[in-house]
Order: sequence, then C-alpha cells, then structure tokens
Amino acid sequence: MGDEILYNEEQIHTRVNELAVEVISDYPQIPLFLLGVLNGGVTILADFGRALWRNGKTDSTVDTIGISSYRYGQHSSRDPKIVKDLKLSVHNRDVLVVEDIVDAGYSMEKLLALLKVRGAASVEVLSLLSKKERREVDVPIKYIGFEIPDKFVFGYGIDVEEMERTRPYIAYRND
Ligand code: IMP
Ligand code: MG
Repeated sequence: MGDEILYNEEQIHTRVNELAVEVISDYPQIPLFLLGVLNGGVTILADFGRALWRNGKTDSTVDTIGISSYRYGQHSSRDPKIVKDLKLSVHNRDVLVVEDIVDAGYSMEKLLALLKVRGAASVEVLSLLSKKERREVDVPIKYIGFEIPDKFVFGYGIDVEEMERTRPYIAYRND
C-alpha cells in the first residue's frame, strides 16, 4: 500500500550523467538540437542538458514541443495531438528528442514523422523511461535511462492527472 520509490534522486542523477557521456561520444564536434517533449520531458531536459555541459558539451540548442496523448486512465491515445509547436526550425539540424517515458509509442511515432517532414539532418531519441512490453508501434529509442515493467509511474516530470510532476524522484502506487 502507498507510494513506492522506483528510482531515487541519486539513481536518476547517476544514470542521466551516464547518458550524457554516451551521447557526447556519439556526437563529437556536432552541435546538438535538444528537443524536449512537454510537459513531462521538462525535468529530464533540464537535467540532461546541464549534464552535457558539465561533461564538456556546450554547443546544444534547446527547444520544446507539446504533445498531448489524451490518455484516458492508463490507456494511450492512438492519435496524439501537437498542442504547442517548436519555436525554431529543425531543418538540417541533428535532433535529439528528450522524452520522459515511451509507453505504447504513438506520441513518439507522431513526433518522428513530423521531424522527418521538416528536414532534420538526423533524429535520435533519448527517453528516461521505457515500457517495452506495452509498445504497440515500433519506435527506435537509442538512449534509454531505465527499462521499466508495466507499472504506472509518476514524479520527475511525469504526472498523475497533472499532479506529482515536481516530485524529485520516480514513484509508483503500490496497491
Ligand atoms: P505513448 O504515446 O503511449 O508512448 O505515451 C507516452 C506518454 O504517455 C508519455 O509521454 C507520458 O506523458 C504518458 N505516460 C505513459 N506512461 C505513463 C505513466 O506510467 N505515468 C504517467 N504518464 C505516462
Ligand atoms: Mg511525455
């Protein structure tokens, strides 16, 4: 009963730093376009961007896009909507999408199609969490923080009906 911690602040911090080191070695001298997915991706975007900087990669551009997956309870929408567009052009840019969690995969599928149409030079995905066993469409996620079981999680940017995003760690309800 009650809330259980799945990943605490230190575990997240350590993993985010490891991902930053890995990304840096994959993009030597290549300026990155970090595209955070609103609203849930805000926390990982802020922490990951600064982890890049601390490890020496200081050439990143940051923008955001809002995607609403209109979830009903724990069911993913098959038709997510772009609710806030980017400010910048991704044309000829090396884009790294920074997302909180990939579940069924429809939101990411929609976003990757959009980035292709807009002429990004390359697109890769970093997601702090992935629920592979719930995937309904195959989306390539190059960088995964943690592969998690089919549990409904919250905290560290991820909401429960728009609450709990400011919780600094990732939890799940154990009931
Ligand atoms: P997908 O389109 O099914 O992959 O849904 C992805 C989006 O659903 C994520 O960006 C989250 O906003 C939300 N989501 C997926 N799993 C969870 C969860 O366990 N807790 C809260 N939100 C979730
Ligand atoms: Mg999200």
